[in-house]
Amino acid sequence: MTDLHDFPQLMTKLKTVEGLTLRENEPLAPHLSMGVGGPARIFALVEAEQAIAPLVRELTEAAVPWFVLGGGSNTLADDSGFQGVVLSLGRAFRKTEAGPELHQITVGAATPLSAVMNFAKRRGLSGLEWAAGIPGEIGGALAGNAGTAQGDTCSLIERVEVVDRQGNRLIRHQGEFEFGYRYSTLRRDVILSATFTLTPDTPEAIENRIKQALEKRWEQPIGVRCSGCMFKNPQGDYAGRLIDQAGLKGLRVGGVQVSDKHANFFINDAEASAGDLFELIDKVRRVVRDKTGVELELEIRTVGLDSPR
Ligand code: EPU
Repeated sequence: MTDLHDFPQLMTKLKTVEGLTLRENEPLAPHLSMGVGGPARIFALVEAEQAIAPLVRELTEAAVPWFVLGGGSNTLADDSGFQGVVLSLGRAFRKTEAGPELHQITVGAATPLSAVMNFAKRRGLSGLEWAAGIPGEIGGALAGNAGTAQGDTCSLIERVEVVDRQGNRLIRHQGEFEFGYRYSTLRRDVILSATFTLTPDTPEAIENRIKQALEKRWEQPIGVRCSGCMFKNPQGDYAGRLIDQAGLKGLRVGGVQVSDKHANFFINDAEASAGDLFELIDKVRRVVRDKTGVELELEIRTVGLDSPR
């Protein structure tokens, strides 16, 4: 395939930005919890906060497609991969600290959601217990407003430090960005860090709520290659219930299957290709549409040429 963009020239420019480790044609499958997906044309591991603004300016100037990859639990790539630049935030973005105000914590974008929840618990701060057992990193959790019926990420935010698509570093306070069910306008930015305002409570009460959330997780497939829930719940109903009622549990295309345990989870249990996965997604959508009239919308973000949107 011929490149649509001048990637060699872009590589030359990106090599001048300090704090980046650059790889070409990096396979995405190992970075994504679903374990499928072809290579990214350029994979930029960002090792320093100062690298983000110049990097984003270069990408904007070159007009190449790019996205930030978080923990990889909510992103799917197709087999042809991604003809653009993937930004992955490294260790410099993995940190938790108390403050700056009482009952607040400030965390780096690449910190796992579970690590943030545990840090808050140890400090006697409540609000994130719903996150028990949910994979992913804070940046991704804010970009997609991860949550359950018990709570969500964006509601707890005091402010978020970001670099916008023009390369400006700025602070977005609560009220200055929009969010809703599995949606937030923070997805447009590169998130650097976030400050949460939480509620003091006893470690025992917090631990109990974490245990309840984990019990709920046992109803879902655990320790397998999957991306959590595949579809958003439609208004007034549940994607899992609709797929189950349509008799689709266990439906398989190649190496990917609708879970027998929870029908909104698709599992890669036999070296699936992204093609298998997207075919299964299409089938499930079609059958549910035919039987119920409901159009299921992907919760998972897709990148690449052939993937469904
Ligand atoms: N159901 C079925 N069959 C199934 C699965 C579910 O009939 O195979 C029914 C259940 O009996 C229940 C309803 O569907 O009446 C909803 O199921 P559940 O309580 O498991 O919750 P969910 O809406 O499917 C949501 C989040 C999950 C989160 C759980 C637990 C979404 C799309 N999903 O699932 O989040 O873990 O609540 O709180 O909002 C994720 O987003 O990746 C995710 C896993």
